[in-house]
Amino acid sequence: MKVLSFGSLNIDYVYSVPHFIVRGETLASKSLNTYTGGKGLNQSVALSKAGLKVFHAGAIGLDGKFLLDELRNAGVNTDFVKCLEDVRTGHTIIQKSDDGDNCIILYGGANQSITESQIDDTLKNFDSGDALVLQNEINNLEYLATRAKAKNMIVILNPSPMSENLAALFKLADYILLNEVEAGQFLGENLENIAPEDIAKKLRAKLPSAKIVLTLGTHGSIYYDGEKMLRQQAVKVKAVDTTAAGDTFTGFFLSGIFEGKDPAWALNFASNASAIAVTRHGAAPSVPTREEVLAKI
Ligand code: RIB
Repeated sequence: MKVLSFGSLNIDYVYSVPHFIVRGETLASKSLNTYTGGKGLNQSVALSKAGLKVFHAGAIGLDGKFLLDELRNAGVNTDFVKCLEDVRTGHTIIQKSDDGDNCIILYGGANQSITESQIDDTLKNFDSGDALVLQNEINNLEYLATRAKAKNMIVILNPSPMSENLAALFKLADYILLNEVEAGQFLGENLENIAPEDIAKKLRAKLPSAKIVLTLGTHGSIYYDGEKMLRQQAVKVKAVDTTAAGDTFTGFFLSGIFEGKDPAWALNFASNASAIAVTRHGAAPSVPTREEVLAKI
């Protein structure tokens, strides 16, 4: 089975700050670090390091060629990444607090220049039973998912960052991995006093053909496929940077599933992987190897 991860590639500018900036404030940062990132790139790295055969598709500008090295070093094929001459690579400005939390401003750049012809040319190389992994940082997602479904590919959606135009995409997905905030936005409800298991049931009621994975941060994660409801506790660690923790979780969970493991095993695998990622700085550079995760388990 081949995995096509069609998604963003970002340059992450990470500013360490004493607190998140507020309206009207000018705040001196303690440091600035530049990392490889983007939800698409991070998930490709995680999928590949976890053990899958991964192809990344997307777009960068001339300033983003070093992002390809991160992918290649992780074993990801980059033949379907376009390098555009007239547009900047996507980037983020990330505020990182001492406890590892973050706030992110996203500039789409080349990630928003995905054309239908790039999608068609890329999908020619994939078949029924291959997987397509998507987040919400590139354009033309509905066209992409519709074409992939027509080929009988397995479509995985991580609807992050959430936006209103994703309704059709949710319906096309076979697996949906999202957090509680995104679940509340999708359901249009305040979920504060609702048990996570009930949130998963609400999601499944609206999306009866999807397998749901709900991530709960330090409260762990949930898997629900309409029959099986599984709860995984988070692995306790001291976090220094939570950027890409969710992307790492996604990559390792899917790897477990696609190599035929039980969803409970996949949740545990993913949970341990993201626990390692949050103890390291940066997005893609924080993703552990399969061996590191297995050793931790
Ligand atoms: O999920 C983390 C990622 O979100 C960062 O690497 C940043 O690029 C944003 O896309």
